[in-house]
Amino acid sequence: MKVVRDIEEMVSISNSFREEGKRIGFVPTMGYLHEGHLSLVRLVKEKSDIVVVSIFVNLLQFGPKEDFKEYPKDLDRDIKLLEELNTDIAFVPDGQDMYPEPYFTNVEVTELGNVLCGRKRPGFFKGVTTVCTKLFNIVKPHIAVFGQKDAQQAVIITKMVKDLNMDIEIITGPTVREEDGLAVSSRNIYLCEEERKDATVLYHSLKRAESMVKAGERDGKKIKAEMQRMIESKDSAKLEYISIVDTKELNELETLKGEILIALACHFGKARLIDNIVVAC
Ligand code: PAF
Repeated sequence: MKVVRDIEEMVSISNSFREEGKRIGFVPTMGYLHEGHLSLVRLVKEKSDIVVVSIFVNLLQFGPKEDFKEYPKDLDRDIKLLEELNTDIAFVPDGQDMYPEPYFTNVEVTELGNVLCGRKRPGFFKGVTTVCTKLFNIVKPHIAVFGQKDAQQAVIITKMVKDLNMDIEIITGPTVREEDGLAVSSRNIYLCEEERKDATVLYHSLKRAESMVKAGERDGKKIKAEMQRMIESKDSAKLEYISIVDTKELNELETLKGEILIALACHFGKARLIDNIVVAC
């Protein structure tokens, strides 16, 4: 596996692959890789000739009080894990090269970025869409994969690619879970023993919501109230939101209809965890 740090070098490698007719598959990450990321690498590998994984902790998507400085990092381990999967290229750009000063340009999918997680994290999705646009321009992928755990991110990137006529196929890979259902996340390392135990309630509440929908419940308020009751029964849980929206435009639904996304964010100590489930009504 080649580790590329220089942006111009990455552009020239991608151009060469394209000239050779190779299909480039891309997995953007912020590093500290876990099974969720590795499952995305395996998925994109099946659909492309060359696999590029970027590792870049993107300052633009962190709020002033968020964990940019402490965001977990272990580049040597990440590189070893990617090598084990026969990844072709790890692209590890430098922050100053990605955002040379003065930096003025952003990309924003306005409507979809201010709901769900965007409500409490203003500017977060603008940071994500800006860095993904830059990474897409540098890596020049034919296909890029995003995790379903970050459902809103996947919807926003899909919409950005469509609206801006980017010639990239966006696919999503399923959420990878621990045995007890907790979604795998780099931020799970912040959980102490009690918080880690309590955090399994998130998945249980989503499964409970799913079974209510399957049993015929169509009142979004009732489902949210039941999920809230379950989550708030855990001492360490501080619920941020529960939303039930349609999967395309992320509009909040009072009466459930069609394919719905049930999404939540909840704090356990220092960790802000998100999770979701898609259910067909
Ligand atoms: O999902 C993530 O890890 C990040 O939001 C992404 C897509 C790598 C952009 O920084």
